[in-house]
Amino acid sequence: MQIKRVKLEGVTVHDSTEIEFPDRGIVLFSGKNGSGKTTIAEAVPMAVWGRTIKDRGQPIWSANKGGKIELEANGRTYTRRQTGRVKLSFSGGKDYETTTHAQREVNSHFGEFATWKRSAVLSSQESAGFCGATDAEKKRILEALTHSEELADAAEIAAKKSKESRESWTEKDKQAAIEEARLDAAKRALRESVPSESELEDVEEYDPKAHKIALKEKEKARGELDIASESLISAREEMAALNIDRKRIEKDRDKITAGQCGACGQDITEDMAHAHRLDIETALEAIEARAKQTLERGKEAEATHAQALEKYEKASEEEREHDARRKNSETIERLKQAKKEEEERAKTAGEDYAKAQFALKEAERAKAEAARELDHVKTAHKILGPKGMRAHLVSRTIKALESSANSWLSRIGDKEIQLQMSAYGAKSDGSRKDEITISATIDGAEVSVKSASRGERRRIDIAICLALAELAEASSGAQRSTIFADEIFDGLTSAGISAVMGALSDLAEDRCVVVICPEAPHEVAKAANAHYMFEAGNARRV
Ligand SMILES: Nc1ncnc2c1ncn2[C@@H]1O[C@H](COP(=O)(O)OP(=O)(O)OP(=O)(O)O)[C@@H](O)[C@H]1O
Ligand SMILES: [Mg+2]
Repeated sequence: MQIKRVKLEGVTVHDSTEIEFPDRGIVLFSGKNGSGKTTIAEAVPMAVWGRTIKDRGQPIWSANKGGKIELEANGRTYTRRQTGRVKLSFSGGKDYETTTHAQREVNSHFGEFATWKRSAVLSSQESAGFCGATDAEKKRILEALTHSEELADAAEIAAKKSKESRESWTEKDKQAAIEEARLDAAKRALRESVPSESELEDVEEYDPKAHKIALKEKEKARGELDIASESLISAREEMAALNIDRKRIEKDRDKITAGQCGACGQDITEDMAHAHRLDIETALEAIEARAKQTLERGKEAEATHAQALEKYEKASEEEREHDARRKNSETIERLKQAKKEEEERAKTAGEDYAKAQFALKEAERAKAEAARELDHVKTAHKILGPKGMRAHLVSRTIKALESSANSWLSRIGDKEIQLQMSAYGAKSDGSRKDEITISATIDGAEVSVKSASRGERRRIDIAICLALAELAEASSGAQRSTIFADEIFDGLTSAGISAVMGALSDLAEDRCVVVICPEAPHEVAKAANAHYMFEAGNARRV
């Protein structure tokens, strides 16, 4: 980020301060503690990202509301206000309705805040240095410097896609299992629905009309038989009645003798008895004649009855045959129907089986396709993931950073300080772990950066920051970024300060380097091209 001008209104101690930055050279800020020097550097990320270098979440604005920062950088003017709905705006862009939208565009102008902070700000604060960053943050910075952060975004998309693909495959696997079970069921149904082999025998055809006639014939014969039965019975009854009459009269006849009547006591003469006997004989004769007739009639009735019976039985037999034929034909019809249904079922089962086979094939094809896709995205995720290409890029970048930092160290170190940087650390069991490690060799002895002295540590931080700035420029070809070096000399000897200033002067040949320190040592003041004295929010050029 090449800064041209910063204007602060109502920011910490500044009511209204404007500083112009040259394209190159060292600009020195000095003044008492709390006079507002660091605020100028803090105003830059505040304007661009709405964050401060200290990043403690404290407001940078003065207590009285209505603060405003104007930053002219990379050919545009960015304005951040303390109040109002849109707190961020910039020249040459469209008018965004919200700060969130404007911020997105501004981020695309300057990249990530963390990268700027690590490569453009040298600070006495531990947390500001690259060494003080977390491992993930270090990787992110290195990726941002090589513009490979898109890989991280792609990896994230691949991870998401991988999850989706896995879900899709699981879904398809389940579907295939369902289809397989369906096919099994269809196979069973098909086996069970094979129609029976039995052939249905054809019987004599049933004729309902002839059956109806036979029924009528049978009923008619039944009527005739009934009539014959009746006349036979009546002849037999009459015969019986005649026999009774005859026996009674014969008994009476035998009782008739001359003498006194047992009942009425009247005298009966022989003549009278004879006459009476004659009467009885006549009556018996009449009965005999009738009996003879009745016997004739009975015989006739018997013959008629036998004929009627025979006719009836014949008619019955005939009707029975029709009925049997009817029943038979009904059974055949039922069997035919059942067989037809069986065949229908077998046909449906066959169709179902074919459909189930097709569905299973389809499901298996979809599953195989999902598996292929899952394989692809898994591979993509692996390549794009932190252990794939990114690890490779990070390890290449870290080597470039190491070499550049060591070249700066050879200029600003009064001792022989060399750094070893690696994208891998060693686990306690000796295996490798993905972690950016930085160790130092100071005058031939290997020490951890943490245990280096304050002055050594200061030089290491400065060297890494300068190397990061170099790397950022080399990778993006961006304009030379304005660098802020805020109180970086504590812990350094006069020779150390001179060495660092020498390096900064070299750097300032094609960019502006802002050096901040309350009381500028002679070595610093001498190297400065411009000097601002700060006093209670006022910056005066001296
Ligand atoms: N985020 C902030 N919010 C509110 N006030 C702040 C903030 N940062 C700094 N200040 C105040 O603004 C004033 C100026 O601070 P600044 O850090 O700019 O001073 P300085 O000149 O850099 O001082 P020093 O030499 O001690 O570093 C101080 O009184 C400080 O307390
Ligand atoms: Mg300060």
